Amino acid sequence: MASASGTAEFDEIAPVYDASRGGTARAAGFADQLAPLLDPARPVLDIGVGTGVVAAELVARGHRVCGLDLSPGMLALARGRLGQRVAVADAGRLPVRDASVSQAVSTWLLHTGVDRAAVFREVARVLRPGGRYLVIPARGIRPTDDIGRIVNDLEDRLDPGGTRQDGPRALAPTADAYGLVYGGTASERPATFEVSPRQMADSLSGGLFTGAWPVSGADLPIVAEARTRLLALPDPTTPRVRHMTDFVMTFTRTG
Ligand SMILES: C[S@@+](CC[C@H](N)C(=O)[O-])C[C@H]1O[C@@H](n2cnc3c(N)ncnc32)[C@H](O)[C@@H]1O
Repeated sequence: MASASGTAEFDEIAPVYDASRGGTARAAGFADQLAPLLDPARPVLDIGVGTGVVAAELVARGHRVCGLDLSPGMLALARGRLGQRVAVADAGRLPVRDASVSQAVSTWLLHTGVDRAAVFREVARVLRPGGRYLVIPARGIRPTDDIGRIVNDLEDRLDPGGTRQDGPRALAPTADAYGLVYGGTASERPATFEVSPRQMADSLSGGLFTGAWPVSGADLPIVAEARTRLLALPDPTTPRVRHMTDFVMTFTRTG
């Protein structure tokens, strides 16, 4: 999959992105998890900064953050938050000098269909020896409640190779191949959120998760089947309290 693929949908959903993804509460939670792992004396490179909602929370906690993203629509919102410290760039071709970065972060980037090998290769290139790349995954540990079982099954059918899974098992071998050693998880934080089967079914139409994962052609009946299964769950309009654990994965450049 080309590293530059998959950001047109982010241009489209940029205006509703924050509100549909937990807003500043999600961002503040992520910043609380990342901040203790970051050195406030050194700048942070946020790769896939999106609307800058997480980066702005890191700035509020005393960090200097520069952000890169391939979607001009997302980045326009980040510019409103971070000013000129943002630029349009492909995570697989970072416009950054070799061995010039001490710490980089990505939140919810590596499940998007981006070329993860290219990202890890570039992160390894720009990090100084001993530098760290902190990653908060979107699908690190997938919920296994009644909604989760249907959505997980759908994801596995659409993406049998797991290219959109971004937990340690999916990422650690690729990172290792480029000299980034996976150091385990840190800052684990159980979280709950509410969603009804109907809301989840709606978020799967027109591209999974409100447009973030485009689907077409032969995949459409698979999505339609998942929607039907969701709407057949008991009390489909009643929100379920769903549980997940957000965590940070650390990758360190050794050489
Ligand atoms: C799910 S959003 C997450 C944004 C932000 N990190 C957050 O947590 O709110 C994923 C972001 O990755 C960006 N992205 C996807 N592929 C990229 C690539 N090849 N290079 C740079 N950014 C990319 C998208 O444009 C989008 O802004």
